[in-house]
Amino acid sequence: MTNSPYHLWATIKKFDLQNDEVHFWLIHLPQKVTRARFEALHQFKKERRLILQDILQRYVNKPIEIIENPNGKPYMDSQELSFSTSHSGEYLAIVIAKDPIGLDIEKFRQRDFLHFSQSFFDEAWRQQHLETLPYYLQGVRFYQEWVITEAWVKYLGESIFNFTPVNPSACDIQIFQAKVGLWGAIIQKHPISSIQKFEIDWHLEEDYYNALTLLHEKDLKKMLSCPNLKLYRLATIDSTQQFIKNLTSENTLVICQSEYQTHGRGRFGRTWESPHGVNLYFSIRYTLPCSPQKLEGLSLVVGLSIVQMLAKETGVLAKIKWPNDIYVQNKKLAGILIEITDIQTYQTRLIIGIGLNVNAKAKEIPDVGTSLFEITKKSYDKLHLLKQLLKNIREHLLKFEKEGFGGFIKEWQAYDMLYQTQVKTQTIQGTAKGVNEKGYLLIQDSKGLMHEVGSGDASIQSFSNQEKD
Ligand code: BTN
Repeated sequence: MTNSPYHLWATIKKFDLQNDEVHFWLIHLPQKVTRARFEALHQFKKERRLILQDILQRYVNKPIEIIENPNGKPYMDSQELSFSTSHSGEYLAIVIAKDPIGLDIEKFRQRDFLHFSQSFFDEAWRQQHLETLPYYLQGVRFYQEWVITEAWVKYLGESIFNFTPVNPSACDIQIFQAKVGLWGAIIQKHPISSIQKFEIDWHLEEDYYNALTLLHEKDLKKMLSCPNLKLYRLATIDSTQQFIKNLTSENTLVICQSEYQTHGRGRFGRTWESPHGVNLYFSIRYTLPCSPQKLEGLSLVVGLSIVQMLAKETGVLAKIKWPNDIYVQNKKLAGILIEITDIQTYQTRLIIGIGLNVNAKAKEIPDVGTSLFEITKKSYDKLHLLKQLLKNIREHLLKFEKEGFGGFIKEWQAYDMLYQTQVKTQTIQGTAKGVNEKGYLLIQDSKGLMHEVGSGDASIQSFSNQEKD
């Protein structure tokens, strides 16, 4: 038997296969590993494959190799066993059967927990038991409160035979089995009797997490030439902006990124939709050696950092809607929220918050928004994008300290979404004519007079766009 590298970070303490025809394991993944999964899915899949391979080769008692099919699904070219895996919340579930599982291997592709719970439970039960919780806790609640075997069996039935969703407390496994025909016969002949906890000692979980994560404080310190940097990686928070605001630390540069925000904040008191694990939500605390008056145009520079990163890393050509919204095809892709927290004679401390929709599907974001996935139909490694973005922001802020917005004006104009369009503020209406060296929007009225509008002074409405800032 080959030794899987996962033994480096996990030790199997109990391994007790029975001679049943179908086996089911539930492997609890500690939160850190679950987080790592969101960060490096490909790596997580590899680890999952190794666990599976190890279990299976113990079962058949000879070396076997699990490969990944083109969809990233573990696959084994053997008639001896069938298996399927599924991730749900903090759990990795594995089903192994002697008979071919056949159809359900296909169905298990729908392993996303949300999908799982939506197709399985009725609306009322979901709302009462699951949706009151943050997404990442729903899986835990589900497994705590529900008999796993039954749930699993019913899921098979639901996905294969199109059962209508059920209310768990009013559903009986016998009735279910009577309904499922062929699969019911297999299940009844070989009941899934053993649910075994596959106990793993995650004594090295920290190392495991560190090996998987793509974002390390020490790398950032080097990349951003800032030894006094502090990085916070959170699974969930009300708002990264608020988190940084509450900090008392004195680090020069503080970055906080979260997989989920319960109260993501946008400009003008709006909320920022922050679905779990799919997008980037982060805030940076930065101190600039100048007075707030000198910060005019700063938000435009941050916008520039975003669109330039997007063009380089994803090929997506986004525009900046003055002062600082990022748009593609008239839909908002990213937003920037800059808040000044502390003003001293020669320095201003501020928090720059950025929300960038990366892998979210259309249904997860507001209608007026879009995501990189919706634009390109590709998924992106969001932490890689974050790293590149942080690099751009740092470089741009250093230049901004020396040259102000004037140093960026030419570059910025290439991304100006409002240029030559009809715009309206509370007091002026006319044609947008770009920006000046302070970052003010220039509007030419119907008499040909030019007006300058500062981002702090006015909200703007573009006639071609419904969103009002
Ligand atoms: C806007 O366009 O209205 C600005 C949106 C800013 C959202 C980001 S997400 C990370 C950071 N934390 C928050 O609560 N808001 C910002």
